[in-house]
Amino acid sequence: MCGVIGYAGHRPAVPLIMDGLRSLEYRGYDSAGIAFLQNRKLDVVRAEGKLANLSAMLVTRDVSHATIGIGHTRWATHGVPAVRNAHPHKSNDGTIAVIHNGIIENYQELKAMLLERGYVFYSETDTEVLTNLIAEGRKCNDSLPDALRWAVSQAAGAYALVVLSEEEPDALYGARLSSPLIMGVGTGENFVASDVPAFLPHTRNVVFLEDGEYFRITAHSWEVRRVCDNERVAKTVQTVQWDVQSAQKGGFKHFMLKEIFEQPKVLTDCLAGRLISPDLPVRLPELDNRPIPGRIRIVACGTSYNAGAWGAPLLEAWAGIPVSVEIASEFRYRDPLLQPDEAVMVISQSGETADTLASLRLARERGAMVIGICNVVGSSIAREADAVIFTQAGPEISVASTKAMCSQMALLVLLALYYGQKKGTLDVGVWREACDALRALPTLLEGVLPEMRNRAAELAKSYAQAKSFFFLGRGPCFPLALEGALKLKELSYIHAEGYASGEMKHGPIALIDPDFPTLAIALDDALFPKVKSNIEEVQARRGRVLAIVNPGRELRADDVWTVPAAWGPLSAFFVLPALQLFSYETADYLGKDVDQPRNLAKSVTVE
Ligand code: G6P
Repeated sequence: MCGVIGYAGHRPAVPLIMDGLRSLEYRGYDSAGIAFLQNRKLDVVRAEGKLANLSAMLVTRDVSHATIGIGHTRWATHGVPAVRNAHPHKSNDGTIAVIHNGIIENYQELKAMLLERGYVFYSETDTEVLTNLIAEGRKCNDSLPDALRWAVSQAAGAYALVVLSEEEPDALYGARLSSPLIMGVGTGENFVASDVPAFLPHTRNVVFLEDGEYFRITAHSWEVRRVCDNERVAKTVQTVQWDVQSAQKGGFKHFMLKEIFEQPKVLTDCLAGRLISPDLPVRLPELDNRPIPGRIRIVACGTSYNAGAWGAPLLEAWAGIPVSVEIASEFRYRDPLLQPDEAVMVISQSGETADTLASLRLARERGAMVIGICNVVGSSIAREADAVIFTQAGPEISVASTKAMCSQMALLVLLALYYGQKKGTLDVGVWREACDALRALPTLLEGVLPEMRNRAAELAKSYAQAKSFFFLGRGPCFPLALEGALKLKELSYIHAEGYASGEMKHGPIALIDPDFPTLAIALDDALFPKVKSNIEEVQARRGRVLAIVNPGRELRADDVWTVPAAWGPLSAFFVLPALQLFSYETADYLGKDVDQPRNLAKSVTVE
């Protein structure tokens, strides 16, 4: 996820773009850059790190005559955070500058084609490829918009891009596919950005671009056309009523809620370029030149640990690789016996968690290959792991992790499929079903989230006064129960324990009474009858039960919450948001600080 902004108007463009970037910084903050035209000449300034570094560089420049420009704040997906990878990227001839949010899945193929035609690349990004693709398109097309249309028709993946060119010094062009791009319509000035807050201080009149559309704006005009046939699209100007702060949260009350609702997009991004079709194997080029591990040790903390515990059985079942899962703060202070063919897989959203990083270092010292599953490009774990696979979930602002776990689980599914295919242990039928089901997930999830939230809110009110809670599950639902309990305690401060439901009778059941409710996850799988019996054991002690079930499964409980089923283990992608929403709504109902719970930190860089 990155933030883009473009301005064409009558005022000095650079300070206005910098202000816009400040309100987009939540979308990415590892580097930033700006391009503008003065005397018809294109200039680009870029800096690594937060926006303040870019501001400092601009202080020494006279940029006061620029009234058109584009700006970008980056969240790295291809290439480490560095000036060379920061946007805008310039075409080889220096006349075109492009900013981009998204992922071009076939950029390697396009880059190879451009290299053959003599182009030179100065970054590792997909965006520089796109920029030169437009330049190449210009050679065989009559105009810049035609070159843009040609270039985006070559590109597979997701993009929201904005183009500034010396050829048309009064205009900005841009296009979108699966990444947001919104125009702001002003008087004598027009804007475009990934999100409304970037231009909200200047105009509330907006035009939402749809997939497959491209735009042209100047100071005094704007128009939208279709990429496929160049037909003009009649768009309506809408007026937004948000204030800047709520706009940053996309109209959601909290970042956590926004991030829960981002999960369909997170799944799409995580699968992008990796799961292509049922006829092609999973692509994880990061691992192609590495040996297939004989065993895997997953090491992580918090929510990332729960994701690892959920994914481990899939690696065993599909790839035939024995997997154990450990808490990083334990692993690092043991004297772990690592087998020569054992890989250590560290999972971390931030890539900076001190215990996970120390475990990585210990594993490497002992000669183990370390595979990192990480969200933050350029983080310590991403830099130090032997191979790193990025979850591509975008910045997670809420302290309580939600969308990161969804992306980690999706990546673990891909890893199990990848190794299973490489080793030949994966049944073809399983592969086809998994592939179809994964591809269908984002749309299905998007469709059910609003109703799921309503049900969560209703249930939250009814359970919010509880002092303690059990979360029970078996098999793949046990790690989900751990995560459900973790979310409830960290957000609402209600004591909550996640348990393997079969363990209840070995002690914990002594706690059950009418005031100690249990949330039981009883999905439509082989373990359903067992979980059902465990629920009955709780009910026999007069315990109140809220059961999460799949359609068609009969169960007697105080409250039954039906969530959709998906193929095989993928139903977890519906249970996870249900648990997140239940905790969110409980905490919000109790008036807790949802985005910043007491005593917690987003990134724990101390022991
Ligand atoms: C902190 C966060 C959790 C997170 C854990 C591990 O405790 O509050 O949400 O799951 O660290 O973080 P990591 O960045 O390594 O995934």
